[in-house]
Amino acid sequence: MYGLVNKAVEGLIVSNYGEETWDDVKQKAGVDFDMFISNDPYPDTITYDLLVAATEILKQPASELLRLLGHYWISDVAVQHYGSMMDAGGGTLLEFMKNLPNFHRRVKMIFPDLEPPVFKVLKESESSMELIYESKRNGLEMFVVGLLEGLAKRYQMEVKIDQRPAPGGDTDDEINRTLFVVEWSPWEQAATF
Ligand code: HEM
Repeated sequence: MYGLVNKAVEGLIVSNYGEETWDDVKQKAGVDFDMFISNDPYPDTITYDLLVAATEILKQPASELLRLLGHYWISDVAVQHYGSMMDAGGGTLLEFMKNLPNFHRRVKMIFPDLEPPVFKVLKESESSMELIYESKRNGLEMFVVGLLEGLAKRYQMEVKIDQRPAPGGDTDDEINRTLFVVEWSPWEQAATF
């Protein structure tokens, strides 16, 4: 994955636990880069090794770290560094998720070797959607949950997210498919305007 992702793991750990903990994580993971270059691609194993080392050192389940990484990705990486792209992505969570294929096409202009996941909205209503997530990578479902929660916060919405087996999810290709049922409602304070 591009260095941007490893830099996000670094940013999440340094901002919450400090530089020393980050050095410990890198050492435990056997990763000896002083710094990651956002625009350089790195083997996926580096990201996974860093995350596994972080779960051991911080004594946090991987699911929780991935979820926090999703929040951090939206609030820090995406909004602070790619704010105008995020603004152009849509005015609601549903619109944003329906635009995601176009959005990823734009991200691919910055990161040409990007291997992005695929998101498809299967069903929608005013307050819910069924979303399919497809990736050649394993184990990142809780990152997706964190991303959706981070996006919902941006739109001042509460979300409830259920994970279900995806239709066609057991086909024998190398793609992992997950169905997320996402329901939202406005924040209390947003509703009182
Ligand atoms: C400006 C915002 C964004 C940028 C620059 C960006 C860029 C990237 C990059 C560089 C990767 C690593 C993959 C690779 O190197 O091949 C990645 C992975 C990923 N992105 Fe994005 N992304 C952005 C926003 C989003 C959003 C809004 C979502 C979904 C809600 C999303 C979902 C994911 C997921 C789930 C992965 C993990 C890889 C996988 O599942 O296969 N990204 N993104």
